Amino acid sequence: MPECFIRPMRLADIDAVARLEQEAFPTQAPGTSFARELRNPLASYLVACCRRDGDGNSDAHDGDIVGYAGLWFVLDEAHLTAIAVQEAHRRRGIGHRLLTAALELALEKGATLMTLEVRISNQEAQALYEKFGFARVGVRRGYYSDNHEDAYLMTVEHIESTEYRSKLETLRAEARSG
Ligand SMILES: CC(C)(COP(=O)(O)OP(=O)(O)OC[C@H]1O[C@@H](n2cnc3c(N)ncnc32)[C@H](O)[C@@H]1OP(=O)(O)O)[C@@H](O)C(=O)NCCC(=O)NCCS
Repeated sequence: MPECFIRPMRLADIDAVARLEQEAFPTQAPGTSFARELRNPLASYLVACCRRDGDGNSDAHDGDIVGYAGLWFVLDEAHLTAIAVQEAHRRRGIGHRLLTAALELALEKGATLMTLEVRISNQEAQALYEKFGFARVGVRRGYYSDNHEDAYLMTVEHIESTEYRSKLETLRAEARSG
């Protein structure tokens, strides 16, 4: 099992993240301008890096970027704009780790809730979000321009509460042991 970790996205990661976005969201056009997003003071991006077996422990090589997550912060709301894991690396807990890190970053930035939109057909992602306490609070009709699919609006509130922090700690520990 390769060693994986989460870190903030850098300029040098743009090409790899753009490729990942294209793979995960092939109908999204135009793609995100990650160069602009990295300059946006209201946006934060995280990447998941996995070292290949044989890369050793050298810090000189972070390994391959296999996932990313994007957030926008407005007042006390953190909006998850995207989360994706390279197809070949799915179902290994990387999405779980990215979402844990995204919620921890939201807490650091003083957010009290996280919101997102998800295709109503995207049961995999909804299962991930539900694990983290997100609930469906509304439907945005025809939200996706490619096929006019509806989106669920999902939120998790009071992430600053002791109760939610403790849930997040449990989820973080699950990721470590997974
Ligand atoms: C959604 C996505 C990020 C999940 O990433 P991942 O690394 O495969 O997820 P994990 O292995 O960390 O799984 C965490 C949880 O997500 C849910 N999940 C993930 N894949 C699932 C699947 N194929 N079927 C059912 N549940 C799934 C489960 O609840 C899982 O917990 P479990 O392993 O205890 O059952 C990934 O499927 C992806 O990149 N999809 C394409 C892009 C996308 O749709 N992004 C969401 C846009 S809103």
